[in-house]
Amino acid sequence: MESFLIKGGVPLHGEVTVSGSKNAALPIMAATLLTDEPCVVRGIPDLSDTRFMAQILASLGAAVKFSGGTLTVRAKKLRGYADYELVRRMRGSICIAGPLLARLRKTRISLPGGCVIGARPINLHLKGFEALGAQIRIEAGYVDASAKKIVGSTVFLGGRAGSTVLGTANVMMAACLADGVTVIESAACEPEIVDLANFLTAMGAKISGAGSPAVTIIGVDRLNGVEYEVIPDRIEAATFAIAAAATDGEVTIKNCRPDHLRAVLDKLGEAGATVRQRRDELTVRRAKNLRAVDVTTLPYSGFPTDVQAQMTALLTLAPGISIVTERIFESRFMHVSELARLGADIEIEGPSAIVKGGRPLSGAPVMASDLRASAALVIAGLAAKGTTQVNRIYHLDRGYERMDVKLRKLGARIRRVQEK
Ligand code: EPU
Repeated sequence: MESFLIKGGVPLHGEVTVSGSKNAALPIMAATLLTDEPCVVRGIPDLSDTRFMAQILASLGAAVKFSGGTLTVRAKKLRGYADYELVRRMRGSICIAGPLLARLRKTRISLPGGCVIGARPINLHLKGFEALGAQIRIEAGYVDASAKKIVGSTVFLGGRAGSTVLGTANVMMAACLADGVTVIESAACEPEIVDLANFLTAMGAKISGAGSPAVTIIGVDRLNGVEYEVIPDRIEAATFAIAAAATDGEVTIKNCRPDHLRAVLDKLGEAGATVRQRRDELTVRRAKNLRAVDVTTLPYSGFPTDVQAQMTALLTLAPGISIVTERIFESRFMHVSELARLGADIEIEGPSAIVKGGRPLSGAPVMASDLRASAALVIAGLAAKGTTQVNRIYHLDRGYERMDVKLRKLGARIRRVQEK
């Protein structure tokens, strides 16, 4: 296994270019299954998760080529059964269910388990499929969904933590080829849903309202092949912005969408960073001393759960007490005990982390537990005095394209080494 070895205390300076969005890419990759014509998707980040999704598409019978950020898929003939071992390894693979159901009228995929960030049920996905006329059977760890006909209907996808991003994506994709009109109420409003809707629209789907809580899909008979480019990764952009503030540096983040980052930029400003925005780039630097702030994660356009860990790392450096409340995934605080190894003072109280910030961090060996927790540990390591070894960075490689290379260009002293 590989680790990052970070010699901290160096302010980041320079320019970094954000890759295509992982969480936009994964459902769009699945959506290529909705047509038997070729689809070419550009800007797909080269990550273990996207390579893995390409493998799943191929295992379903599609002809797949993925190189240099461009994915070409032709799903002429498909089978509806996804291999248990493949689907089990990545939760995001659940979004193949909607396209398979739409195209083949039946699918069988393994039930994704929970993961370290929380329970991650799929009841809302299944509720949506049932509303479209599918029969669902759960047996021996598999979900079987089948329908004589996919029929448009109105479905409410709100859950206990708001809507569901991949659930909305799944129902939207299935509804594209339904008979009649589907309305998804309490739909997820994330930019990745808008990107998927744009992709589907380019394929010939009839969708309105994406990005709002009510999405309407008028079913069509067939979809066509398309060429498309995914949006930049807002979570990667946020991670570099926070790293710039944490190291007291100044970083220009290129190929990003500031309009997708409002909540993060607002909090960064409150915490003492200055942010300059141009159309598709941002410059972030620490203007003054960091200040403690309270952060609550919420569905878009609120503060993203996928940036909570990185923000927590930054707030360990801000004198005073910050309260970080996680409202989307109940156990997404695995980074806290590892941040403590670097000297951070954080207590968990129910859904909140109470961060008593301002103590200097010092390097230590730490263990990554999930994707965003890994990013938080890298940020803390960059800000800490001395050497930090972040172990198990395969978690980080699931969602950040060449993060070590990008950070080195910004002056960070970071190396990829074999874990000892
Ligand atoms: N939920 C239900 N029932 C469902 C589905 C979800 O109760 O059927 C609950 C979840 O337990 C959670 C909340 O609804 O409390 C939101 O989960 P959601 O379904 O929106 O999450 P997801 O679609 O499975 C995507 C991203 C996650 C990101 C979340 C929230 C992808 C591949 N994954 O997951 O990304 O945290 O939305 O924004 O798009 C990451 O990139 O690190 C990551 C975990």
